Amino acid sequence: MASVEISGLRKLYGDVVALSDISISIPSGTFYTLLGPSGCGKTTLLRTIAGFHQQSAGQIAVDGSSIEHLPAHQRDVAMVFQDYAVFPHLSVRDNVAFGLKQRRIPAKEITRQVEEVLEVVELGKFVDRMPHELSGGQQQRVGLARAIVVRPKVLLMDEPLSNLDARLRVDLRAELRRIQRDLGITTIYVTHDQEEALAMSDVVCVMEGGIIQQAATPLDVYLRPSNRFVASFVGANNFLQVGNFKGECVLKCCGSSVSQHLPAGPVVCALRPEDISVKVDEDPSSLLNTEISIPVQIKEVSFIGREMEIFATTDNGEAIKAVGRSDSKVIALPVDSRAWFCVERQNLSFFRDSELGERV
Ligand SMILES: Nc1ncnc2c1ncn2[C@@H]1O[C@H](COP(=O)(O)OP(=O)(O)O)[C@@H](O)[C@H]1O
Ligand SMILES: [Mg+2]
Repeated sequence: MASVEISGLRKLYGDVVALSDISISIPSGTFYTLLGPSGCGKTTLLRTIAGFHQQSAGQIAVDGSSIEHLPAHQRDVAMVFQDYAVFPHLSVRDNVAFGLKQRRIPAKEITRQVEEVLEVVELGKFVDRMPHELSGGQQQRVGLARAIVVRPKVLLMDEPLSNLDARLRVDLRAELRRIQRDLGITTIYVTHDQEEALAMSDVVCVMEGGIIQQAATPLDVYLRPSNRFVASFVGANNFLQVGNFKGECVLKCCGSSVSQHLPAGPVVCALRPEDISVKVDEDPSSLLNTEISIPVQIKEVSFIGREMEIFATTDNGEAIKAVGRSDSKVIALPVDSRAWFCVERQNLSFFRDSELGERV
């Protein structure tokens, strides 16, 4: 168990700024996830912590001791890779024993530790198999066993589930989380999959362009995104134009005013597709003033089993999407028919309509 403290970390590749002034603080035992689109710097950050890359500036400390000057093998961190990285010519037992042999641990002790860790990852029956006799999910368990058998202070995982099929990915993520909790090992996990990040993490750190956009609990990132990028990357969001009429914030698509203090400058309103209820029979605008109702023209309804997705446009031409429990009345709506999208006022969020797009 160990805490990780990173301050002012920068990494340049030539003149490409891959990481720009990264500072994060990870308490001992935390499952900490770096989430962001491809190219945002996740792998670079992980590999810099591991010591495979040399930082251009900044400090990395584990349990209060600086490690940024140490070579990778002296850092007491272990890494699990996307492509399993198991030795194809070694059995499961020898793959897992590899790191222990390098540390010159006595053979008997190696056997004991290897068997113990293979029980943890539920590969006890496979000790004598070769990697090509294992499924992708089992190979990744070998990768994990190899990483944790040396009892590192920090476990780093770079998209470890992304080569597996969808069903296995969901099973294995629950299992990874269970193992991490049982061992209490501080873990930094990389993924571009927001659902995986929300499901597994104590803290989700959303990155874009080599910069941390927000680091918070999964619920906070989802319910209170700190800027427009986070609001659109984590979960889905509709963004609607807002007008400022005599100091009142008004949604342009329906003329509804919303009590919201507006700063100077342009602002957009965000509402999540799952917070929209679709009404088809009557204009509900006068029924509830805790809600706003947006008249829309239906463009497409797709039935995807338990849920349906409704794509529509507002009267001023903005695209807007709703998601909800399948409802035969809505599914039957012809293209271009009228309906109302209703949202509780408390479910609206506002962001500056600027490059940073901070929450207001
Ligand atoms: N070895 C390298 N040389 C030059 N640029 C690189 C190298 N590795 C990564 N980059 C660039 O750094 C940025 C971050 O990459 P990376 O850390 O791999 O992102 P992610 O893992 O989030 O997809 C990208 O713009 C990428 O093109
Ligand atoms: Mg990567």
